[in-house]
Order: sequence, then structure tokens, then C-alpha cells
Amino acid sequence: MINNAKVAVVGVGNNTSALVQGLAYYRATGSEVGVHRPSIAGLGVGDIDVVAAFALSDDKVGKDLHEAIFAPPNNVPALLPSLPPAGVTVQRGLVDETGADRVVAALAGAEVLLYSAPSGRPETARAYAAAALRAGVAFINTTSDPVARDSSLLDAFAAAGLPLIGDDLASQFGTSVLHRTLLRLLDERGLTLTSTYQVNLGGTEDFRNLVENPNTKKQSKVNAVGSDKVQMAPLGYLPQLRSQKVAHINVEAQGWAGTPVSLEVRLRVDDPSGAAGVNVDLIRVAAAALRSGAGGYPAEAAALLKSPPGTAV
Ligand SMILES: NC(=O)c1ccc[n+]([C@@H]2O[C@H](COP(=O)([O-])OP(=O)(O)OC[C@H]3O[C@@H](n4cnc5c(N)ncnc54)[C@H](O)[C@@H]3O)[C@@H](O)[C@H]2O)c1
Repeated sequence: MINNAKVAVVGVGNNTSALVQGLAYYRATGSEVGVHRPSIAGLGVGDIDVVAAFALSDDKVGKDLHEAIFAPPNNVPALLPSLPPAGVTVQRGLVDETGADRVVAALAGAEVLLYSAPSGRPETARAYAAAALRAGVAFINTTSDPVARDSSLLDAFAAAGLPLIGDDLASQFGTSVLHRTLLRLLDERGLTLTSTYQVNLGGTEDFRNLVENPNTKKQSKVNAVGSDKVQMAPLGYLPQLRSQKVAHINVEAQGWAGTPVSLEVRLRVDDPSGAAGVNVDLIRVAAAALRSGAGGYPAEAAALLKSPPGTAV
């Protein structure tokens, strides 16, 4: 029997809620609906144990993980009628190097640290990455802050034989993946791109934070689409959308003899679920790489990220 992957999570927000609930859902139902890869290195979707969790809010610290994931401002819907206690008590996290010893000690028994705090706080991201390095665990940066794009950090993880995955996860079926695919199709069919833009609206705490603090996210979204012609409208926070994201993609192109071709696409998805569907793969890729002694960046992760190493910061 395979040993479950042991993951610690930073941030008990919507994405962690969707992930933790989804793990319980897939274990309970045995379903494979919505699963990208049923098995990675022998690890199934349910073969992941959350062994530690870090948060800052007093509504979450000290609570059982299965209670904390429903504390506001989290607003991802419940996937199961009820969840028994997880047996994992949420611990206070860190914002800089202060408190790092406590976090390093709490990572004993974990193989992977999934960093799922708000984007736009690169110092905090680096402090957790340093703690993972000291604890000897793999690190996944799901935020748009540069961690895997920092060559000194990547070298340090590689030298220690520890995987480092990042930056910024690309949702399972989100605007980035759809937009990139449309532009590739245009190219494949011989059309010439004239201009293209994206509009993203959402009602989560992530959107609220990114509207106020868009610094690292905008470039990461451009990296994900892979065209220097793409324009990103400022993100819109609309609380009534709750965990739903609504995106509009516009593509203007030229076809035969310069005749115009215009495309408008509207996508509506549950945003944290799109993140969970990718985090479940990233965790298993990280655990498998760690177990095989492969440090540094696993190339297998590239398709699941907006800004892998080598892309612009
Ligand atoms: N589809 C997606 O949802 C998607 C896609 C790509 C990237 N991301 C990124 O994933 C990350 C998580 O998204 P989310 O929707 O769960 O965000 P969220 O705001 O719901 O959750 C983040 C949580 O981290 C907590 N936190 C803040 N500072 C912390 C610290 N120093 N230590 C521990 N916890 C801390 C916050 O209190 C909050 O509960 C964000 O950076 C987001 O930009 C999300």
C-alpha cells in the first residue's frame, strides 16, 4: 500500500477549503468526476493527508481545520453535508522570519508545504520558503509572488534535493488556460492576432485583495497567456458573485486578405474549485519528486502554472 502524501498548508482561505473538502469528497464517493489525473506516481486523489495548517486570523487559529475552513471571509460552498473533525489544529503562521523556528518544528512529518496565502506579499512567501528549506520539505508557491522565479532560491532547493514548484497556479479550467488555447488555435489556423483582452470579475477575498494589491498578479496573468499583445483589464471585486468568477475574453484577428475575425467568450466557474483541481496534482508531483530525490523544479509542473521559472517577474 502506498504512503499518503503529507502536506502542510499555509493559508486557510477559499482554496484550502476547496482542497480539503474535495479530498474528503473524493474519499467518500470514489468519484473521478472533475479529476485531471486520477493517479500520479501511484498516489490517488484521496491519498493526501493534511498534517499541519497555518493561518493568521483569530477566527481560524486554534480551531480544527474542518471548522476553520468555513470561517469568513471564506465563501466557497460546502461540498458535503458535514465533515468530522480533521484532528489538525490550525497554528499561527508567520509574516517574516520572526517565528520561523516554530513553523520549522511544526513541519516535522510533512513532505510538502503548499503556500496558499494572499498574493502580493513576497517577503512572507520567501519566509515560508526558507522555513521549508530548513525543514527539508518541498515547497509549492501558488501565489503570483516570485519564489520559483528567484534563481537563488531555486538553486538552494536543488542543492538540498528538495522540489520547488511555482509560481502562481493556473486554474484547472480558468481564463489563462482558455485564453492561451484560443490564441494557439488562431495561430494554428493561420490567422493574425490584432488585439486581445481579458476581464476578470469575482467575489472572493482573493479578488478583494488583488484589486487593492495587483502588483505581481498582472504580469503573471500576461505570462500565462504567452502573448505580448494581451491586455488585462483591472480585476473587479463584486461580492455578490461570491466564489464564482466571471471572465470575458475578446480576440480580434485578421483572416483571408485581412478580413476581420472577432471572438467573445464568457466563462463562469467556481474559482477556488479550479485552484483545488490543480493543487491536488501539484502536491502529488511534489511528493513524488521528493521521494525520488529529485530536487529543484519538476518540469512536469510547468503546464499547471502561470509563471514557471524563466518567465518575467
Ligand atoms: N483560481 C484561484 O483561486 C487562484 C489561481 C491562481 C492563484 N491563486 C492564488 O492562491 C492564493 C490563495 O487563494 P485563496 O482564494 O485561497 O485566498 P484567500 O484570501 O481566500 O486565502 C488566503 C488565506 O491566507 C491567510 N494568510 C494571510 N497571511 C498569512 C500568513 N502570513 N500566514 C498564514 N496565512 C496567511 C489569509 O488570512 C487567508 O485566510 C492567492 O495568493 C491567490 O492569488 C488563486
